[in-house]
Amino acid sequence: MKKFKVVGIGVSIPEKVLTNSDLEKMVDTSDQWITERTGIKERHIVDEKTATSDLVITAAKEALKQANLKASDLDTIIIGTSTPDTPFPATSCWVQKGLGISGQAAFDVSAGCCGFLYALEIAANLIATGTSKRVLVAGAEILSKITNYQDRSTCVLFGDGAGALILTPTDEDRGIISSNWGADGKLGDLLYLPAGGSRIPATCESVEKKLHTIHMAGNEVFKNAVREMEAATITALNDAKMTADDIDLFISHQANIRIIEATTKRAKIPDVKNYMTIQKYGNISAASIPVSLHEAYHKGMIKDGTKILLAAFGAGFTWAAMILKW
Ligand code: ACO
Repeated sequence: MKKFKVVGIGVSIPEKVLTNSDLEKMVDTSDQWITERTGIKERHIVDEKTATSDLVITAAKEALKQANLKASDLDTIIIGTSTPDTPFPATSCWVQKGLGISGQAAFDVSAGCCGFLYALEIAANLIATGTSKRVLVAGAEILSKITNYQDRSTCVLFGDGAGALILTPTDEDRGIISSNWGADGKLGDLLYLPAGGSRIPATCESVEKKLHTIHMAGNEVFKNAVREMEAATITALNDAKMTADDIDLFISHQANIRIIEATTKRAKIPDVKNYMTIQKYGNISAASIPVSLHEAYHKGMIKDGTKILLAAFGAGFTWAAMILKW
């Protein structure tokens, strides 16, 4: 077991809501199609000025308050995101600046929708080896700024938000019971942001062709997501010598209700243990798991000792699953 304790949790959800009926006025879609095919009813969207680090700073302050720690007590900042403020420096460094601190190790993890679980896995290992003692680990995205609102096959899916946890070492029997992660880069171009990197730098043409927005072969992504998230989830249970009966809660990446339900069916997880937030936030990529954890925590569903099965699938393709004992 990789031992650590979650001593604080916070979120930041933008105020502005984009509903399915708003989208009906923007593209040829319907509330019925979006609800039936994805489970999404609305998503939250930032204003023009807000960047990913702004969301993380708000979430971090809430988590620090709960942990009764000052920002300067942190020694490591890790943020899972595919929508950094800037390609460099890392969003984690902008968060440091915003929190008025310096000196901590600070870096981002780019693993698509698995960004938070990858970051949590790294944080757990840093604590287990004694490298870090007070880690801020977050998942944060502003997907609305890389979404093409003329493309109905993607624009109905994505939203913005952030969630942050603070982890400290503990001798208690809590932390990660089992975990696995993986990736398959061969399938990278089924879900990607074509331009803005070294392959296709920004040009007038790249902007005109909307190459700085999400490109996704939805159906192919769907099939892979079902297969890999199911496999990762079952591996996490098997490695822990557990079944769905032994876990209290299942929180997966919130991309599509049909992907989540395929996974719960295969892993024999009853509906009552499956906590979903997709209807309210849409797909907020790396932020979806910490935001859902925060909501479940404040509903009293997560307490000391609660065993939570977490699973995700995303751009890369990447996948990850773990059993977290709170
Ligand atoms: N409104 C109405 N009709 C639509 C819409 C829409 N918003 N979008 C697509 N359609 C139409 C299509 O044009 C197609 O019409 P046709 O049959 O006349 O050609 C029909 O609906 C079916 O399209 P599909 O793409 O086959 O629909 P599908 O059932 O696969 O649902 C969806 C699409 C929701 C995108 C689904 O494929 C999906 O959820 N994919 C996975 C997304 C995901 O998991 N992403 C992973 C992480 S994201 C990240 O890492 C950032």
